[in-house]
Amino acid sequence: GLPGRVRIHEVGPRDGLQNEPTTVPVEVKAEFIERLAAAGLTTVEATSFVHPKWVPQLADAEELYPRLGGPALGGVRLPVLVPNARGLERALALGAREVAVFASATESFAKANLNRTVDEALEMFEPVVAHAKREGLRVRGYLSMCFGDPWEGAVPLEQVVRVCRALAGMGCDELSLGDTIGVATPGHVHALLAALRTAGLPGSAAGESGAPGSGPPAAGPVLAVHFHDTYGQALSNTLAALQNGVATVDASAGGLGGCPYAKSATGNLATEDLVWMLNGLGIETGVDLAQLTATSRWMAERLGRPSPSRTVRALAGT
Ligand code: HMG
Ligand code: MG
Repeated sequence: GLPGRVRIHEVGPRDGLQNEPTTVPVEVKAEFIERLAAAGLTTVEATSFVHPKWVPQLADAEELYPRLGGPALGGVRLPVLVPNARGLERALALGAREVAVFASATESFAKANLNRTVDEALEMFEPVVAHAKREGLRVRGYLSMCFGDPWEGAVPLEQVVRVCRALAGMGCDELSLGDTIGVATPGHVHALLAALRTAGLPGSAAGESGAPGSGPPAAGPVLAVHFHDTYGQALSNTLAALQNGVATVDASAGGLGGCPYAKSATGNLATEDLVWMLNGLGIETGVDLAQLTATSRWMAERLGRPSPSRTVRALAGT
């Protein structure tokens, strides 16, 4: 059956804005994050502590993060991306409690995104995850290009399973399976989640929510999915993941952004489209759709282009 509740991992301020050509002032980013929290999102990925030349849009992380301590954000998780020891130091210096490393299932993207081979990147992450765990942080491991890669084509399931195992072995609390270029279809999602189950990666949120009657928490990391809507498949793929026990779904308010290092990586799944579907299924998210939509329209005005989200447009009556 489907989960009763889904935790939405909002990535708009990070994955969305990192790919916008318009430079967004730090106070607008802070207000965006506050408004997302006020709309009921309980996890809002705030920024990245990466090399500023690689992602200029997020070069203001040191300015932004300290602005997010206001009472309105009490209890909201604010994860940040850290690629290496330097990134983790920067995040810890500002009091971050949740970080994410980001691996790739393919060599081409590992090179383009991290200037490393897949294994070199994993070697870079291992001490970062270990240090973060020692500090009591929650650690997410992203895995990009889980379904297709712009240079390599279809990605073999074994490649994805291998890197997931490595990230789980390091002690990641959560793994986010990324369809970075949006080519996945539901059959492929079922196949990947089945392959991960066979490898002992459960895919349920039981370990996180501890819902009554769900039995003992599943061992190993919680699985999350991160779909892009390039070919219009993101919601179908999400439903396939929910049918496989996944209950953590990444989405970007208003459908902002893609990935600057992945050719043709347009459009993260829009949070509004996701909430519309989950509301229809009777699955709880805690998100106020009207407030969220208003936030995305406000952000679209600042970016000077309309939101690509169907739901944002429909609810605006345009
Ligand atoms: P590199 O050039 O190999 O770095 O880049 P290096 O380790 O050789 O260091 C070179 C210089 O960078 C040194 O400075 C370091 O101190 C500095 P120098 O001694 O020359 O003056 N440096 C840093 N400065 C600030 N913060 C740091 C940092 N690290 C090194 N953290 C590196 C390697 C990993 C740094 C680089 O490739 C990088 O920053 N990559 C990040 C790319 C990125 O953020 N991509 C987007 C996120 S992934 C994504 O979007 C996909 C995802 O959303 C899922 C999906 O959508 O599917 C997650
Ligand atoms: Mg993305």
